[in-house]
Amino acid sequence: MNHAIDYRHAPAAPPASPAAGRALYLSERDFMGAALPKPIEKVLPAAVMAPQDGPIDFSAELGLPYPATLPALLAGTHAVGPGDSVPVGEAAGGVIVLILEGTGEFRAAGETVTVAAGDILAVPGSIGASAHGGDGLRFYYVDDSPMARYMGWQVQPTPRIAFTHWPAALLAAKLEETRAQGITASGVFLAHRGIEHEKLATPNLFAHLNRLAPGAANTVHGHAAAAITYVIEGNDASYSLLGETLRDGAIVDPLRVDWQPGQVSLTPPNLWHGHFNDGRTDILTLVVQLSGVYYNDRTMNFRFAG
Ligand SMILES: [Fe+2]
Repeated sequence: MNHAIDYRHAPAAPPASPAAGRALYLSERDFMGAALPKPIEKVLPAAVMAPQDGPIDFSAELGLPYPATLPALLAGTHAVGPGDSVPVGEAAGGVIVLILEGTGEFRAAGETVTVAAGDILAVPGSIGASAHGGDGLRFYYVDDSPMARYMGWQVQPTPRIAFTHWPAALLAAKLEETRAQGITASGVFLAHRGIEHEKLATPNLFAHLNRLAPGAANTVHGHAAAAITYVIEGNDASYSLLGETLRDGAIVDPLRVDWQPGQVSLTPPNLWHGHFNDGRTDILTLVVQLSGVYYNDRTMNFRFAG
């Protein structure tokens, strides 16, 4: 078998075709000086308050033709009145849901789950899942629909994207268990039996109910996966620090973002950041990260400054 191709003696080009007409032939010079998309921290705020009802849509700032909070993630809230319903996870691979207020039902894959404030769910995307209002249901969500839309991929659900419910009472018990174990700065990581090895909530999304006890911190670190963090409980001395460079293990001229309940923080990929609780009460956040692609590619790049 001859593995070499002699391009210098290639046959004459075939007759024009639509497929050949679409081809572009770029050189190195087409890339040199080309404007790359700006890093997220240059175009988006570090944090916004969650809306009462609707997406956190930065598609204009990101130059994307579909709703997006970050290039590959969409966060927002839905308010669902009694007797009303909304679709969940359209065009997404998966969705992480936090029930903020009220009661209601989520329906997916032929199953119905009754939900109340504090519950967290993983919902398979693109299968017609829906949320139904009980007495004024309101929920926060993060999905990966912008990634699927960028790729043009249609999601086919598998057991690795399973409808999963973490009820508030069991989350509370687990938080107390970690407290009793003396764990002050991590809380509960949310995974399910269909993707146990990866310790993710969906093949794409990492979900973490992060409790910081008084005086505790997630010390300065960085990771390839962008994160969206919803502040469930804050206090007047809880905050994040973010910045591009380090000196002696600390962020140079950090941007400080104070935490308040209902705030949604956007952590860009690989930016140095830390979370600190200098107050007297616990703080609690729901962190969702676009971790699966990096985990699978062995490129998490999780590193600590110290
Ligand atoms: Fe982080």
